[in-house]
Amino acid sequence: MPPAPASSVFIHPTAEVSPRARLGDSVRIWNQAQVREDAELGAECIVGKDAYIDVGVRVGARCKIQNGVYLYHGVTVEDGVFLGPRVTTTNDLRPRATWPSGAARGPSDWTVTPTLIRRGAAIGAGAILVCGITIGEFAMVAAGAVVTREVPAHGLVRGNPARLHGAVCACGQSLRRADLSGLTARCPACATTLTLEPAVAAAVP
Ligand SMILES: CC(C)(COP(=O)(O)OP(=O)(O)OC[C@H]1O[C@@H](n2cnc3c(N)ncnc32)[C@H](O)[C@@H]1OP(=O)(O)O)[C@@H](O)C(=O)NCCC(=O)NCCS
Ligand SMILES: [Zn+2]
Repeated sequence: MPPAPASSVFIHPTAEVSPRARLGDSVRIWNQAQVREDAELGAECIVGKDAYIDVGVRVGARCKIQNGVYLYHGVTVEDGVFLGPRVTTTNDLRPRATWPSGAARGPSDWTVTPTLIRRGAAIGAGAILVCGITIGEFAMVAAGAVVTREVPAHGLVRGNPARLHGAVCACGQSLRRADLSGLTARCPACATTLTLEPAVAAAVP
C-alpha cells in the first residue's frame, strides 16, 4: 500500500495541537487532547481523548495513546508502544514547589529526569512510571503498577512497587515455564522464538 498523504491527519476540532508540533502521516488526535510545542508524533499514532503530550516529547510511529495519558517533557516513546488509559509519566524525581526559604521555584528551577519506553512495550491502565527508567522492548506493565526500576525486554511487571513476574511475547502472550528451554522461549500463541534475559527467564511462573 502506498504511504498515506499527510492530509490524512485527523485532529478533532476540540483538540489543541500546537502549530509547532510535528505530526506524521495518518496521525489521529481525539477530543480535548493537547499536543504541545515541538512534540513529535510518528505516523499512524492515535492520541485518545484528554491525553496530554508535553513540550518536546517524541513519540515513534504506530503508537496507541489511550484516553487521559500524560506524557511529560523528558519522556521518549519508541515505535509501536501501547499506553493504556490514564498512564501517567513523571519527570521530576524530587519535586518541590519552593526553595527551603519558602520562595517559589521558577519554571527552570528543577532537573528533568528522562524516561524511555522502548519499541513495542505496553503499559497497562493507570500505571505510573517514576522517571529515570527504561521500559524495555515488548515489556508489559500490568494495570495499576507503579514502576520505579528498569523493566527488561519482554519482562512482565506488576504491583507497587512493580516487580518482575514473568515474560511476554511480542504478541502479548504471557509465557510459562513449559514454554522455556533455558533462556529460549517459544510462544504457544504465535510460535515466535525469543531469547530472554536471565532475570526475566527466572521470573517466568
Ligand atoms: C498482568 C496482565 C497482563 C496479566 O498477566 P498474566 O501473566 O496473564 O497474569 P494472570 O492473569 O495469569 O495472573 C497472574 C497473577 O497476577 C495477578 N494480576 C493480574 N493482573 C494484575 C495487575 N494488574 N496488578 C497486580 N496483579 C495482577 C493475578 O491476580 C494473579 O495473581 P494470583 O496468582 O495471586 O492469583 C493483565 O492482568 C493486565 O494487567 N493487563 C493490562 C490491562 C490493561 O490495562 N489494558 C489497557 C488497555 S484497556
Ligand atoms: Zn507470541
